[in-house]
Amino acid sequence: MLKIAVLVSGGGTNLQAVIDAIAAGTITNSRIEVVISNNKNAYALERAAQNGIPHRCISPKDFADRDEFNRQLLLALNSYSVDLVVLAGFLVVIPPEVIAAYKNRTINIHPSLIPSFCGTGYYGLNVHKGALLRGVKITGATVHFVDEGTDTGPILLQKAVEVKEDDTPESLQRRVMEEAEWKILPEAIHLIANGRVEVENGKTLIRSEKGMDTI
Ligand code: GAR
Repeated sequence: MLKIAVLVSGGGTNLQAVIDAIAAGTITNSRIEVVISNNKNAYALERAAQNGIPHRCISPKDFADRDEFNRQLLLALNSYSVDLVVLAGFLVVIPPEVIAAYKNRTINIHPSLIPSFCGTGYYGLNVHKGALLRGVKITGATVHFVDEGTDTGPILLQKAVEVKEDDTPESLQRRVMEEAEWKILPEAIHLIANGRVEVENGKTLIRSEKGMDTI
């Protein structure tokens, strides 16, 4: 059984997609042990409560300095003995000690096709504003492992979404969520929970029926 911590900051629709997929059996061998938010008002915490999932707020604001926050976040994850950390709209820089302790065991959902519209400053609605400003015709979402950089880790899954001429950042964000994020995040967790993912030389290998495919 893969024990998961989901880290959130906002509405938690990706968290909800994971909760629903576990309930529906499309994610197998997995249990959410804890939901952690840096924002005590995040609706994601409410979603955890409604589903009987342990949840807590750990915010940099509550500690004397960043080192102490980093230490407390790591301690919390360790206390739940989690196997996988899922960043689902977590808008705080991940402490280096968490990245090191959970190397190849931390994934992030990003609302673009990496390496487009990613890195520092590209989060949430900004990503979609960037895509519309550049005039791309296709965007999408990416699930990747988290390394020391910002959105630079091995790519696990991607799904493309068409940009429409009358899109606003908000309408594009919603469609990317519906058509891509809420599908590939649960799928990524299912693959990991069933031992089908390996990381090698900065790329992921996904085990299919036939063997390992490099993507
Ligand atoms: C999602 O669109 C997620 O891809 C994005 O924040 C949103 C959270 O929504 N994450 C990033 O931009 C990370 N760089 P949610 O709280 O409804 O899941």
